[in-house]
Amino acid sequence: MEGNKNGSMWLDDLGNPIQAHGGMITRFGDLWYWYGEHKGADNCPGTSRVDVIGVSCYTSRDLLTWHYEGLALKADPDHPSSPLHPSQVLERPKVLHCPATGKYVMWFHADSPDYTRAAAGCAVSDTPTGPFTFLHALQPNRFDCRDMTLFQDTEGRAWLVHSGNWNKTLYFSRLTDDYLGFTGEVYPALIDQEREAPALMAWEAKYRCITSGCTGWAPNTALVAQSRFLTCGWKLTDAPCTGPGARQTFGGQSTYIFKIGQVPYLMLDHWNPKSLRDSGYSILRIHMVEGRMEIPWQDTFIPDTSSL
Ligand code: DGJ
Repeated sequence: MEGNKNGSMWLDDLGNPIQAHGGMITRFGDLWYWYGEHKGADNCPGTSRVDVIGVSCYTSRDLLTWHYEGLALKADPDHPSSPLHPSQVLERPKVLHCPATGKYVMWFHADSPDYTRAAAGCAVSDTPTGPFTFLHALQPNRFDCRDMTLFQDTEGRAWLVHSGNWNKTLYFSRLTDDYLGFTGEVYPALIDQEREAPALMAWEAKYRCITSGCTGWAPNTALVAQSRFLTCGWKLTDAPCTGPGARQTFGGQSTYIFKIGQVPYLMLDHWNPKSLRDSGYSILRIHMVEGRMEIPWQDTFIPDTSSL
């Protein structure tokens, strides 16, 4: 089987570059879905910002051949004050299926070009491909929301996990049972440790959270934190990447962890800040060795679907 070359742009089934940055891969039913930022336009001159286009959705049966389903959430050029207006910033979209309502719920980092809005945007759809309807952009529990992800814990509760307090601290903000708002429960973690790009997984009796440091678009050392509870006890333990290039996370930055069966994989973005549309992707297998994460570089992503 020929895999996709890690660290480069990947093409969809029609030969077009996949535009799904800061994204996630998940499985709904018998299909894999890849959501991410569509950055398929030139950077605005002199900036590392691309006008908001929307959130792409791709589907696949084998995690190698991806079919573009269109924009699951579209920019809103008609309303200048909308967080979805092209002049704004939309990053790191993530989608969960809500068991209580049967809806698909998307949250994303909704910001202004100077990163002072620092909100979490929410949209909802009856189907995984959308179109998602934008509901609101909020500061969770009055904290700023910057890099973020969604996570369903082992008890089925959903959390928005976001860098806040100007990236100093990571916050775990519990979502309501319909996943559309916040319960008011919020737990700070890794206080003053300045981590971003969170990507989580549950493994045996502990949660793991990979984050990057805060160096803008430039790569730095990914670190893993672990805790028995989402709500407390997080400790940064180790750098999980191994081998040449590990100190720079192989030139990438974490965005999501998904599992194929029981096997976890880390998704990375390889940002090209001068031309964000050309930013590449990697998907690296996470090896769990006596409870420790080890992530060596792999030239190609070849999914192991034998356990499905
Ligand atoms: C690093 C973040 O991880 C990206 O998502 C993006 O927000 C850039 N910072 C902006 O500089």
